Amino acid sequence: MKDKSFKVGDLVLLIDSRGKKYLVKIKDKKASFHFHRGEVRFADIIGKKEGDVVFTSKGERVFLFLPTLWEYILKMKRGAQVIYPKDIGEILILADVFCGAKVLEAGTGSGALTLGLLRAVGKYGKVVSYEKRKEFFEIAKNNIEKFQKIRKEEWGKLELKNKDLKKGIDEKNFDRAFLDLPDPWNFLEIVKKALKPGGILTCYLPTVLQVFNLVETVEEKYSKDFYLMGIYEILKRDWQKREKSLRPKDRMVAHTGFIILFKKINR
Ligand SMILES: C[S@@+](CC[C@H](N)C(=O)[O-])C[C@H]1O[C@@H](n2cnc3c(N)ncnc32)[C@H](O)[C@@H]1O
Repeated sequence: MKDKSFKVGDLVLLIDSRGKKYLVKIKDKKASFHFHRGEVRFADIIGKKEGDVVFTSKGERVFLFLPTLWEYILKMKRGAQVIYPKDIGEILILADVFCGAKVLEAGTGSGALTLGLLRAVGKYGKVVSYEKRKEFFEIAKNNIEKFQKIRKEEWGKLELKNKDLKKGIDEKNFDRAFLDLPDPWNFLEIVKKALKPGGILTCYLPTVLQVFNLVETVEEKYSKDFYLMGIYEILKRDWQKREKSLRPKDRMVAHTGFIILFKKINR
């Protein structure tokens, strides 16, 4: 990433002395960002670089950074509920998403997983993502474009489709498929035809009844097509140091979803 200065129109992550984060768009240089610790003038940010420091009108120190992907996901506009970064990280390694992979995704939702996939597949890879709801499709498109503008990386190619996966898909030979839908068992027939043998299907579900239904459907109707790799839940606990005390934080995101993976069998 180039070492460039902040300018009007950029998104900047402000971190105050308590560690609270604010993702802010730099408007014109006469404007300011106001929060309970004072006012940060955009004129003070413009021309500064990532890692620099500014001070609020109340003398509070504020760091300036570009958001990382997980910081961005937690701050970006949400249509549908996102997959949390703790799960995205694990999904990418469990599903073995590699550089150059061709990936199918549904639904796009707010585009959180899509961003993780686009980064993982890199410039030789491709993500084809289906979202049936127009408003979510637009939110995801905007979220993805905004982050790609902040972080000029070698992103994978994206084909975003405002289409119901039920209507079928145009392409085949995907290396990986990701279903973050409430009823993935209704899409096994479509995914079965779209995935390469040895390809991996990952489903993400919030409740055990859905997981049970999915695995039962595979056992009953698709045991010759999919091999169950595993069912996982990821627990992540944040810790904090305050003076001489080092302990877990009081609050945690306790439950998000289950990750279920299958390998495509060659018939
Ligand atoms: C939980 S959200 C996905 C969130 C996304 N993984 C993220 O990280 O931002 C589920 C999405 O699937 C979409 N969806 C549900 N059924 C669908 C279908 N049959 N075809 C395409 N999209 C569908 C919904 O509109 C919703 O936006």
